[in-house]
Parts: sequence; C-alpha cells; structure tokens
Amino acid sequence: MHDLLALAETAALQAYAPYSKFRVGCALQTLSGRIHTGCNVENASYGLTICAERNTIFQAVAQEGTSMKVVRMAVVCLGHEFPPCGACRQVIAEFSMADGLTEVIFLRDGNPVTRTMAELLPEAFVIPS
Ligand code: THU
Repeated sequence: MHDLLALAETAALQAYAPYSKFRVGCALQTLSGRIHTGCNVENASYGLTICAERNTIFQAVAQEGTSMKVVRMAVVCLGHEFPPCGACRQVIAEFSMADGLTEVIFLRDGNPVTRTMAELLPEAFVIPS
C-alpha cells in the first residue's frame, strides 16, 4: 500500500513551486485499480495555485470519468510533513467511497500515518440527491 508514498515522492519532483518552495506530490489509486499522480503548480498570482491533491483528482476524473472513486491517496512534501489542506479535503470527499473509508496516507516524523476521509473531514458538505 505504501508504494503510493514512493510514487507521491517521485511526483513531488515535478512540482512547480518557485514561491513557497513546498514541492508536494500526490499518488492515488481508484476503484478501477488505476494509479494517478500529480504535483502542486503555483502561480505568480498566488491564489491561482493548485495543490497536488486537487491536481491529481482532476486528472483522474479527466482520464477515468465522473464515476471515478478514490480508494486511497498518499501525499508527500519534500522536506515538510502535513495532511491535505481543508480545500483538498472537500474535493477528495467529493470522489471518496460512500462509506467515508477512503484512506489518506501522509508522513509524520518520517512515518506513514493513515486516516480515513471520515476522520479528516467529518460531516462533509454534500448536496443531497
Ligand atoms: N499544498 C499542496 O500541494 N497540498 C496541500 O495539501 C497543502 C499545500 C501546496 C500549495 C502551495 O503550492 C504550497 O503547498 C504551499 O502552500
């Protein structure tokens, strides 16, 4: 499972982060078994920056279609450690397993930590169908 962490670390090498210097990579596996990777891409107009997690999810939707579901995701920042930001949590929730059991893996003190989306974003905003 933690191969995803290695893929995320490799993806972080592709980051475009001249402003923050935070080079972030993401790797996710979908229900179909496919793996997608991505990185953060910053912009001189700072607010236009896209995080690695959202970049990767949008790419997965573009390649697999709108029914794509994330089973697990790993996030790595070179030289730093953090779980996905709040904006990314909301986007991950949109494409998570219905039971909230989609797993998110990140590093803490050099060790992998796994959290479910139910833990990372309890009571997520959803539009009732
Ligand atoms: N960043 C991510 O890629 N993912 C996160 O979850 C948090 C922050 C990026 C955005 C920006 O390029 C840099 O890290 C500093 O915020």
